[in-house]
Amino acid sequence: MKKILVVGASGQIGTELTLALRNKWGIDQVIASDIKTEKPAVLGPGIYQTLDILERDAVRKYIIEEKIEVVYLLAALLSATAEKQPDFAWKLNMESLFTILDLAKEGYLKQVFWPSSIAVFGSTTPRTDTPQYTVMEPTTVYGISKLAGERWCEYYNQHFNTDIRSLRYPGLISYKSPPGGGTTDYAIEIFHEAKRRGTYNCFLSKDTALPMMFMDDAIRATMELMEAPKEHLRIKSSYNLGGITFTPQEMANNLQRHIPGFTIHYAPDFRQSIADSWPKSIDDSYAREDWNWKNTFDLAEIIKIMLQHV
Ligand code: NAD
Ligand code: SER
Repeated sequence: MKKILVVGASGQIGTELTLALRNKWGIDQVIASDIKTEKPAVLGPGIYQTLDILERDAVRKYIIEEKIEVVYLLAALLSATAEKQPDFAWKLNMESLFTILDLAKEGYLKQVFWPSSIAVFGSTTPRTDTPQYTVMEPTTVYGISKLAGERWCEYYNQHFNTDIRSLRYPGLISYKSPPGGGTTDYAIEIFHEAKRRGTYNCFLSKDTALPMMFMDDAIRATMELMEAPKEHLRIKSSYNLGGITFTPQEMANNLQRHIPGFTIHYAPDFRQSIADSWPKSIDDSYAREDWNWKNTFDLAEIIKIMLQHV
C-alpha cells in the first residue's frame, strides 16, 4: 500500500479528494496537509499535517521521512486571486510544482497528480469544443503558470521517467468546501445567495458560457486517471476534461424553477475578461479513449443536489 499525501487538503478539491482517497485506500494511508493550521471539520478523523509547500526543505524532509510515495499537489492561487497578486501567484504555483517534481525525479515519489485548468487556453484558442492540441496563449498569470507547469510535467515525464499525471479541470461546482477565488466561483455563490436572499448579483455577464463540472465527476476523473495503466496514457502533459456548458442566465432560469421569484442581476467585473478568454466547451476525446472517461452529472442534477446541500 502506497502512502499518499494531499497538499492543499483544506481547499475546495482537497477536502473531497482526501475523503475519497481515504474511502478507497484507508484512512491511515492518506495524509491531509495544508498551510492552514486548523483542520476543516469536514475532513473528519485522519492525520492532518500543517505544511507550507513553499518551505522546500521542510516539505522534502517530511515526504522522505514519512516514506510518502504519491502526492496530490493542489496548493495554488486560482485565477481571480492570482490577478491581484501576480508575483506571489507565479511563485506559489511554480515553486510548489518544482519541489514535488524534483522528489519524483529523485525517485522518492512514484506518482504525482497536479491539476491544470481550462485557463491554459486564451482568446486566440478556438472556443467551442476546444481540442487537446491547439493554440495556447493564456493571458492570465494563473493560465501562464498552468501552461508552464504542464510543459514541465511533460519534460520530467520524458526526460526522467517520472509518473506525473494531470487534468485540465473545468470550473468545479461543489458544496462541501467553499471555492478558493476562481472566475467560475459564481456557479457556486449563486446557490448560497439564492437560498439566503433569493437574489444574486453576478460578476459575469448573462451570456458567458464556460465549461463546468460537478465535483463528484472531477474526483472520479482524478482517481480514474491515477489508476489507469501508464502505457495507455498518450498525454504526458495534461488531459482536456469536458463536463457541461452553461451561462449564468441558463443557470438562473433553471434555478427559478426551484426557487420561484429568484432574481439575478449582472455587474461584470475584472473576472469578465478572464472568462472571455477561456473556452466555452472542451473536447475531451483523448481522456475518453485512453482511460474511458465519461462525465455523468448534467445541470439539472447539479442544481438539485446543490439546493439540497447548500
Ligand atoms: P482552493 O483555493 O480551494 O484550495 C487550495 C488550498 O491550498 C487551500 O486550502 C490553501 O490553504 C492551500 N494552500 C495555499 N497555499 C499553500 C501553501 N503555501 N502550502 C500548503 N497549502 C497551501 O483551490 P481548489 O479549487 O481546491 O484548487 C486546487 C487545485 O486545482 C489548484 O491547483 C487549482 O488551480 C486547480 N483547479 C481548480 C479548479 C476549480 O474550479 N476549483 C479548476 C481548475 C483547476
Ligand atoms: N475554476 C478555476 C478558476 O476559475 C479554473 O481553473 O480559477
